[in-house]
Formats: sequence, structure tokens, C-alpha cells
Amino acid sequence: MFQRLSLPDSTTSDEIAFSFEGRPLQARQGDTVAAALLASGVLTCRTTPISDSPRAPYCMMGVCFECLVEIDGVPNMQACQVQVRNGMQIRAQQGARRLA
Ligand code: FES
Repeated sequence: MFQRLSLPDSTTSDEIAFSFEGRPLQARQGDTVAAALLASGVLTCRTTPISDSPRAPYCMMGVCFECLVEIDGVPNMQACQVQVRNGMQIRAQQGARRLA
């Protein structure tokens, strides 16, 4: 569904490794977590608290909060507002958020 643009100066040397639900994936340096997930074919990043409906990043600019995920054990992170880092472990946020 989502496909990266092919830029003339793009290289593969800036690829970094991260995981989603334990599945190893690749991203490019500078990708947000949301962009990296969508580019990797991950189309659901959380479920709703009431009906467990699957949700995915929507606005990509920090407004809709549809992209909430758990990053390195920290819940309620907006995937579209965080740059993916090497070794980052990301999990889907299931149902209602946990309060710290
Ligand atoms: S995609 Fe809308 S807040 Fe992240």
C-alpha cells in the first residue's frame, strides 16, 4: 500500500534496524516511527479501548493520536512524532492506555 519514493541520492547505508511486536524491520535514518511502520507494511499500531478496533497513523502531524504505540516500554508515544532509532523496540498499544 505505502511505497517509498526513489530519490536520486538515496543510499541503503542509512538503514537502521528496529522491531515491531518482536518482528525485525528496517527503517531509514530520519524516519518517524509511524513512517517506518507504514513503509514496512504495518497497518495497525493500536486498538481502541472500547471496541478493540484496529487503528493506524492518520494525520502524521501529531493531531489525531491514532498512532499511539509503546516504544522501549514507554506507552502512549505518538509514533508520528518520534524518530526511529537503531534497536528501538516498538509494540502496539492494545486497548486503554495504562496510567503510570
Ligand atoms: S498520526 Fe495523527 S497524531 Fe500521529
